[in-house]
Amino acid sequence: FMLVLCLSASEDFDWTKNDHGSFHYGTFPAGFSWGAGSSAYQTEGAWDKDGKGLSIWDVFSHKKDKVQQNNTGDSSCEGYYKVKDDVSLMKELKLNHYRFSISWPRLIPTGIKSDHINEKGIQYYDELIDHLLENNITPIVTLYHWDLPQVLQEKYGGWQNISMVTHFNEFANLCFERFGNRVKYWITFNNPWSVAVEGYETGEHAPGLRLRGTGAYRAAHHIIKAHAQVWHTYNTQWRGKQKGQVGISLSADWGEPVDISNQKDIEAAERYVQFYLGWFATPIFHGDYPQVMKDFIGRKSTQQGLGGSRLPTFSTQEKSYIKGTCDFLGVGHFTTRYITQKNNPSGPSSSSSSSSYFTDRDLAELVDPRWPDPGSEWLYSVPWGFRRLLNFIKSQYGNPLIYVTENGVSEKMFCTELCDDWRIQYYKDYINEMLKAIKDGVSVKGYTAWSLLDKFEWDEGYSERFGLYYVDFRNKNKPRYPKASVQFYKRIISSNGFPN
Ligand code: NOJ
Repeated sequence: FMLVLCLSASEDFDWTKNDHGSFHYGTFPAGFSWGAGSSAYQTEGAWDKDGKGLSIWDVFSHKKDKVQQNNTGDSSCEGYYKVKDDVSLMKELKLNHYRFSISWPRLIPTGIKSDHINEKGIQYYDELIDHLLENNITPIVTLYHWDLPQVLQEKYGGWQNISMVTHFNEFANLCFERFGNRVKYWITFNNPWSVAVEGYETGEHAPGLRLRGTGAYRAAHHIIKAHAQVWHTYNTQWRGKQKGQVGISLSADWGEPVDISNQKDIEAAERYVQFYLGWFATPIFHGDYPQVMKDFIGRKSTQQGLGGSRLPTFSTQEKSYIKGTCDFLGVGHFTTRYITQKNNPSGPSSSSSSSSYFTDRDLAELVDPRWPDPGSEWLYSVPWGFRRLLNFIKSQYGNPLIYVTENGVSEKMFCTELCDDWRIQYYKDYINEMLKAIKDGVSVKGYTAWSLLDKFEWDEGYSERFGLYYVDFRNKNKPRYPKASVQFYKRIISSNGFPN
């Protein structure tokens, strides 16, 4: 009986089989969209130009020792001044779409729409969008890629405060009004897991708060509500005229049970994925948090003698408002972990000060020493994890339309080589696993290589390079040079996959 209960959450996802198979020759469905991505703070620079307000990342990166080598995004790739150059790089690749984000404080300097709208900021995005369209490249636009207006952080505590829902909705509405005649694909939030956990639990990202065991859950709760509200705004006010789609982009590493014949490992791996992807996807597709999150956080909160669960709850009305607010699911995926049940699950003895998002999950993460890790410490190449994840999404959320909004690999800063063989291998293997997932019946409609350019990599600064194009940050003009992966990706795009 217990077994049935545990497995019922996964519907038909089979944890017990993981046959990787060999390389699959074949092409993608006609109309499959190939793209590359970026985000505002990571590439634009011009942090204080033309009336832009401060974001939490401007402030955070200017503090000492928050970012490797005290790097900042002040100038980054100077993308703000290089619209034409960068669109020509996309042309060279023959991209079908380009994913970028709009900086909220560039449009609304204080974050509060009634204060002031910065027309210069609007002009910049107008120019970018028009130029993309003139070149037959579809814009996919993210509304929130982490650069919250600093005023909203200072005044209200940022995503800890429910008033963000209203402010974000007004910002989104402004974007629909000004750009929606030309932009048909909107992503409300990029990777809210990171915003919640790294912004409010570990403090590694802006705003750098460590509200352990509560901050991440509260931030996520407000983000989910804000997402739903923006989807409804579009649905009721704009969809009829503009005929676009609104989705969210969730980041999801895959969690594979260490031992697929061990039920405890399967349950731990499922918890890993539910606390990561399911945290956001389950409310959006099914109306409420995953049962396993409610159970685990609730039980721990009781053990800590708290009056209620540290995981906030949705009212019945909120649940039905949130459920189904997704026209497509954006998936950002980079890597995989092996997961096992912890030997000493933190029991009643664990003090409340040690309570955190991480201990709530009661699991241990492992990596296989044979997995290649050419760049970032956290990023191991495990291509089959991608196919597993995509099949998991299909089984859990009713086979939604999926756009892969981020996938790629980094290299370390001391590498100035343009021959990035490991990136070619990574793309080849991951794209091939995505093709297998499509053969499995997963509805993947597009793929976005992350990223077009080397850029500011958050707390890692410029030490990790994800670009297809190399950017020489030491040179004031920030020249771009194609790495070998440009030719490789171009071939994939022009042949639409791996023809025999
Ligand atoms: C996910 C984030 O959305 C993106 O901004 C970042 O560059 C990649 N992870 C790589 O770390």
